[in-house]
Amino acid sequence: MTTKPEDTTLFDAIYTMRGIRKFKPDPVPDDVLKKVLEAAVQAPNGGNYQRWRFVVVRSAEGKRKVSQLAVKAAGIEAGVQGREGVVRTEFQESLLTVPVIIIVTSLASNMPPAANVGPHGRTFPAVQNLLLAASAYGLGGCITTSFRYADAEVKKALGIPDDVDTTTLVPLGYPTGDAPDGRHGPKTRKPIEEVAFDETWGTPLVL
Ligand SMILES: Cc1cc2nc3c(=O)[nH]c(=O)nc-3n(C[C@H](O)[C@H](O)[C@H](O)COP(=O)(O)O)c2cc1C
Repeated sequence: MTTKPEDTTLFDAIYTMRGIRKFKPDPVPDDVLKKVLEAAVQAPNGGNYQRWRFVVVRSAEGKRKVSQLAVKAAGIEAGVQGREGVVRTEFQESLLTVPVIIIVTSLASNMPPAANVGPHGRTFPAVQNLLLAASAYGLGGCITTSFRYADAEVKKALGIPDDVDTTTLVPLGYPTGDAPDGRHGPKTRKPIEEVAFDETWGTPLVL
């Protein structure tokens, strides 16, 4: 596993980074966490207002609260999707022992609707930077949003003001995947011919 960030090229990170949901218990050093957060805030953002705020949860008590609420959220989500009998909570329960949980939030914006990209648009470029930088340090993480089925309680538990939106929960730690590099195997993505069009909608772009 690569641990020296300078050994990871941008394209390595982009092509190999998977959503990581299983972690070793090894802690994330403070200096690495700082680098990862600093990479996050280099991201582009509307008007450079930098409305992202990150709640970093590392205490056992904080993780317990977040994990419990994530389990509750998974139950609500299953109900909404009509699959009450099959509630998957392995990941949510594992948050108890994930080294770091980052709840990404956005301050409100008063941009007019046409220019308002919403809380996710205001924060996701930073989240992607964070994950790519984490990957360069040999860390893994994952964008997860299902905790938001219990959003009000998560905000209350973490003291997040009512007018601040949560956007994603990112677990962060050293991956313990099945693949030889400790990650979770290769990516599967559609070819660009299927998702990029040449001049007009529906004409595959063949390069
Ligand atoms: C907006 C968004 C929301 C997501 N929400 C969740 C989630 O709630 N739980 C989860 O396990 N993964 C979540 N993911 C991760 C996706 O499942 C993952 O990126 C996708 O399956 C591709 O997997 P890969 O990147 O490992 O190839 C989310 C990803 C995005 C971009």
